[in-house]
Amino acid sequence: MDKIVIQGGARLDGEIEVSGAKNASLPILAATLLSSEPQTLLGIPKLMDVTTTQKLLQRMGAKITEQDGTCSVQVGTVENCEASYDLVKTMRASILVLGPLVARCGEAHVSLPGGCAIGARPIQLHLTALEKMGAEIKIEHGMIHAKAGKLKGAKIYFELPTVTGTENLMMAATLAEGTTTIENAACEPEIVDLAQFLNACGARINGAGTDRITIQGVASLKGASYRVMPDRIEAGTFMIAAAITKGDLVIRHGRSEHLVSVIDKLRGAGATISEEKDLLRVKGGAIHAVDVKTLPYPGFPTDMQAQMMALMSISDGLSVITETIFENRFNHVAELRRMGAQIRLEGNHAVIKGVPKLSGAPVMASDLRASASLILAGLVAQGETEVLRIYHLDRGYERIEEKLSKVGATIRRVKGSA
Ligand code: EPU
Repeated sequence: MDKIVIQGGARLDGEIEVSGAKNASLPILAATLLSSEPQTLLGIPKLMDVTTTQKLLQRMGAKITEQDGTCSVQVGTVENCEASYDLVKTMRASILVLGPLVARCGEAHVSLPGGCAIGARPIQLHLTALEKMGAEIKIEHGMIHAKAGKLKGAKIYFELPTVTGTENLMMAATLAEGTTTIENAACEPEIVDLAQFLNACGARINGAGTDRITIQGVASLKGASYRVMPDRIEAGTFMIAAAITKGDLVIRHGRSEHLVSVIDKLRGAGATISEEKDLLRVKGGAIHAVDVKTLPYPGFPTDMQAQMMALMSISDGLSVITETIFENRFNHVAELRRMGAQIRLEGNHAVIKGVPKLSGAPVMASDLRASASLILAGLVAQGETEVLRIYHLDRGYERIEEKLSKVGATIRRVKGSA
């Protein structure tokens, strides 16, 4: 397994580019199952989770080619409507094939995702909503078996605004008979991106980005060419990299409209941020303590909580970070403590007493965003930090060590270590 080694203390300066969004690419790739025509996708990042999704699609009969950043996908016929445990266990987002498969083939067999490091992560809301659309669902031997003649439009109310649940239902409803409404839908920008792709293929979706989405079913979807949105969490991670190193970064493809809550908190924490179209500039200064609570979009993203905690660990005061989305998303705390951070956990609150400096140490990544938080801490810690188990990082950040080293970080990947 590879590890990342960082010599802390360098101030980051220069221009850094954000890749296409992981959490938009995964549902958009899954959505290619809905049509027999060729799809051209631009800006799909090179990430482990993308490779896993492509493998999943290929097993179902997709022909996929990649050239110069363009991913072409065609699922002429679905040869196999099963997503087996060997792939699902490595990536929970595999559940995103459920809706498209039932809609296109009338059946799907998808391994039930288990819990993961950050929480139990049930998918009951996806299943009951599909049942409302006429699917018969059974869970046997760890597999979800879904069957339906033709799905029927339905009124869906989500008890919680689930992101992949909203995406699964939206995809299923594009080919259903009649109109589906999703109330209390998740509003994340990745849902808007998926809806725009589907509409480019001929779907009739309205209201994506609000809590009420309406989908009028159509008989079939055609091919389209579509560029996925930039990754707002990668952009947010780079914003914190600038703030924590008291650097000055121009973040290309940083979309301020997707990062309103993050920008607000970072300004409160002392960063100077200017916003332009498709670009953000972040200059770090004295780091002030701010309280943060994670919430569904447009609230502060749970996917930025760990990175914000790294920043708060060297603030000038006491801050409280409250996690409200996932029940176990504080795995980075013990590792940040090994680097000298003073953090106390009280239920879903982390109380962080800023210290003047962190000290480099070997640390273990436990999930994707926790890995990013340890990299950020390593950038500012005195001495050397080794981040182990970085396969988590490779699931969601494209060439992060290359990008950070180009703007001045002393960071390298060491191949094949523990
Ligand atoms: N929930 C239920 N029942 C369900 C579905 C969800 O109780 O049937 C709960 C979850 O347990 C959680 C809350 O609803 O407490 C929100 O979960 P959601 O379903 O929205 O999460 P998700 O769709 O599984 C996506 C992202 C995550 C991100 C969350 C929240 C993708 C592929 N994944 O997950 O991204 O943290 O939304 O914004 O889009 C990451 O990229 O690191 C990541 C974990």
